[in-house]
Amino acid sequence: MTPGFTGQIAKETRVRLQTSAYPPARVEKFCRLVERIEREILPHDVIVRNHYTKWFERGQFDRTDVRHFLTQFSVFSNFFIVAQLLKTINAPTLEAMHASKEILMNELGVTFRNPDRKTPAPETAGQDLEGAVESEGTVDGSVFRFSSAHFEWLLRMTTHLGLSFREVGKRRHATKSTVFFCDELARIYGSEDPSTALGASFAVENWAAAGFWKELIRGLQVFKKREAPGLPLGFFTWHDIVEDQHAQHTWDELEEEFFAHEDVDEDRFISGGVEMLNGVLSFWNGLNSDRLAREPLRKVAS
Ligand SMILES: [Fe+2]
Repeated sequence: MTPGFTGQIAKETRVRLQTSAYPPARVEKFCRLVERIEREILPHDVIVRNHYTKWFERGQFDRTDVRHFLTQFSVFSNFFIVAQLLKTINAPTLEAMHASKEILMNELGVTFRNPDRKTPAPETAGQDLEGAVESEGTVDGSVFRFSSAHFEWLLRMTTHLGLSFREVGKRRHATKSTVFFCDELARIYGSEDPSTALGASFAVENWAAAGFWKELIRGLQVFKKREAPGLPLGFFTWHDIVEDQHAQHTWDELEEEFFAHEDVDEDRFISGGVEMLNGVLSFWNGLNSDRLAREPLRKVAS
């Protein structure tokens, strides 16, 4: 038995879908998948115990640590674009292709336009960026700006810490574990097989919703206050806001996707999810080993 496993989400889903219009056999198949997610994906180490972000949150790192962290993150940020493009190309439906393209284009610098908003976007969404930046809406009919590319938000941050364009974002700047993560993203998240890709997406969303953005922000705020006034944190605060909005929808989206397709393969979904999370864990474990290796050298300003 998996520690902490209750099967609660599957039980609630079964009760809720009993009265739905879906065929009972498909409801049962979905509930079985939900139960396996609870057992095999949600308790993954990278979701429940990320040693690096737990350490980072306290802000007891020096400039070398944060430069190393941002360099690795910049490579991930750039290669995420490759994985997202593959996901777009391999999308099983036009709707799925549009959903992937929203993320891809926004990543590259097309800001979201929120047709429902009557008032300007809250300042927090674009804190340290150029004014307020929408965190939801659509790229359709919106505007492209080089300066709105997520990579450039990150570059603004690295530049502040003395790392120029030449020193970030490329494969050659990555450690072995970061390269492994980026390649796994392309292979699994960008997979041609819809069940594998769906499992990977769902797993990545649950990892992102588990609070690591907040842990990173807390650590960066401590560091900023202590020794880097003016450090722009917009890249992190914006992603955290998007994640908070998205976290509430991940299960609804899974249900929608599952019933929209005839043929979600349970085994391939689960292995896609687990293998993807192993890739994510490799990234954070790599950073954790690197920071442990620097332990004797670290000089945290008081
Ligand atoms: Fe991003």
